Amino acid sequence: MIREEAILREFNLYPLWQRREQDQSILEQVTATVQPATEQVASKSVVEKADMQNLDSYNWPELQALVKNCTACKLRASCTQTVFGMGDVRADWLFVGEWPGMDEDAQGEPFVGQSGKLLDNMLAAIKLKRGHNVYITNFVKCYPSGNRTPEANEIAQCGPYLERQIQLIQPKLIVALGETAALLLGYGAALSGMRGKLHHYCGSPTHTLVKGIPLIITHHPAYLLHTPLKKAEAWDDLCLAVATMQGLG
Ligand code: URA
Repeated sequence: MIREEAILREFNLYPLWQRREQDQSILEQVTATVQPATEQVASKSVVEKADMQNLDSYNWPELQALVKNCTACKLRASCTQTVFGMGDVRADWLFVGEWPGMDEDAQGEPFVGQSGKLLDNMLAAIKLKRGHNVYITNFVKCYPSGNRTPEANEIAQCGPYLERQIQLIQPKLIVALGETAALLLGYGAALSGMRGKLHHYCGSPTHTLVKGIPLIITHHPAYLLHTPLKKAEAWDDLCLAVATMQGLG
């Protein structure tokens, strides 16, 4: 693969992912939220106690309702609203972030703040647009007040929600943004040892449809905002993601 600078110069995106006027207007034209195509409705009572180990029977609206009314950990008590995710529910591409920030908490959508702007530019760099064959969500669905790192048990409580989202979307490829999102691997490790290679999502053993989905781990956009020199590594990871997707045919 050609090195990142050459590609980025060719895409007129150098220095890396700096927003151009033209990109701005393209992104503004995007209809961000694509509703589920089916006419499914939430038929389960939201007060029904969910079996958190088995959300297999939950359809999309039921899962949304379940997350919206979740009180499984203390995060919900201090956030404004849950942030379920947004985009094309039949997307080939699934981007998973860590947890909503203050902007996301206010708007109820993932990646709408500064890191979201960078994520949009990262998507544009590989010719993707939010909401178009792309679904974006977070591992944790509630804003942790003060933007603290969620505790292990808070992260764990949200795991089944993300797992069910993956089962329903059945993406062809998952891009995990940051170490918390990389927990999709089923274990935690330093991001430096996980990025730059192709992994596979394991999920629950009974779900053969999502088992083995290619999973690429890269830097979180918020980290890239503070550490711009790492953008080159993120670019390599995105190129790996594109090449992997192309290889899937
Ligand atoms: N950071 C994330 O991981 N997710 C968001 O939605 C916003 C910032």
